[in-house]
Amino acid sequence: MNPQMPQKLSLPGVKHVIAVASGKGGVGKSTVAANLALALHSAGKKVGLMDADIYGPSVPIMFGLGQVDPQTTPFPLHKYGITLMSMGFMVDPNQAVIWRGPKVAQAVQAFLGQIDWGTLDYLVIDLPPGTGDAQLTLSQSAPLTGAVIVTTPQDVSLIDARKGVRMFQEVRVPVLGVIENMSYFVGDDSKRYEIFRAGGGRKLAAEIGVPLLGEVPIDPRIAECGDAGEPFVRKYPDAPVSKAFLELARSTIAATSGAPAAPLPDVQL
Ligand SMILES: Nc1ncnc2c1ncn2[C@@H]1O[C@H](COP(=O)(O)OP(=O)(O)OP(=O)(O)O)[C@@H](O)[C@H]1O
Ligand SMILES: [Mg+2]
Repeated sequence: MNPQMPQKLSLPGVKHVIAVASGKGGVGKSTVAANLALALHSAGKKVGLMDADIYGPSVPIMFGLGQVDPQTTPFPLHKYGITLMSMGFMVDPNQAVIWRGPKVAQAVQAFLGQIDWGTLDYLVIDLPPGTGDAQLTLSQSAPLTGAVIVTTPQDVSLIDARKGVRMFQEVRVPVLGVIENMSYFVGDDSKRYEIFRAGGGRKLAAEIGVPLLGEVPIDPRIAECGDAGEPFVRKYPDAPVSKAFLELARSTIAATSGAPAAPLPDVQL
């Protein structure tokens, strides 16, 4: 084994570890990760959510939590039935973490190896944007069942999503499927508007031979929920966006309930 390669950690109490990733920033990874966690929970699963974004943690804001004193509030935290860990629970959110790559990688490994996640059906990991140190360490050291790739419909997002796919291929982690976020907008006239063009998620999924796990429409209330500390599927369970996330949870359960999926063949993207 390559001595540089981080050791694969084992999480004996956790049945499935799912990474939510994309090469690109701002496509909705954190939104998908948080809502997938809640949707899996509403399907009766025991769920954890690990925020692997050390520089820009989103989980505290999305769950209405902040820095805590670990003496009185031991990690991980719990809210809305989800077990949570984030760098934002450890540091003042106004103080940027300015660590170098290796320290970030260490923090990610500590979240995996030193946090008592208890028994979980699913641990969802919200990855930071890009395909750098933190992403690579995590993909190599976490016992990942698979990755869900988030993209938006337009081609520029697809280029980065392909980089994300390639990273998982290199470390032999199966890609469970693609989720297209900000797919379309339904106006007051009930018409469907494809603001960022259409079909990118489907195209990427077909290209790499994995299922399209869902298309999440644009809903301005998503940003509002992010800031209000209550994930969308909890606040608006009947909205089309929530239906898409519940469908994603169902597909994730289906994709992980059989035999472990074979790693993707090496295809040139
Ligand atoms: N379907 C959607 N409709 C409307 N707004 C959305 C949707 N999905 C995400 N957003 C908003 O887009 C912004 C980016 O989303 P989010 O933080 O989840 O992306 P990200 O990929 O995790 O970003 P980063 O790369 O910075 O970690 C947020 O303000 C979020 O509320
Ligand atoms: Mg994010």
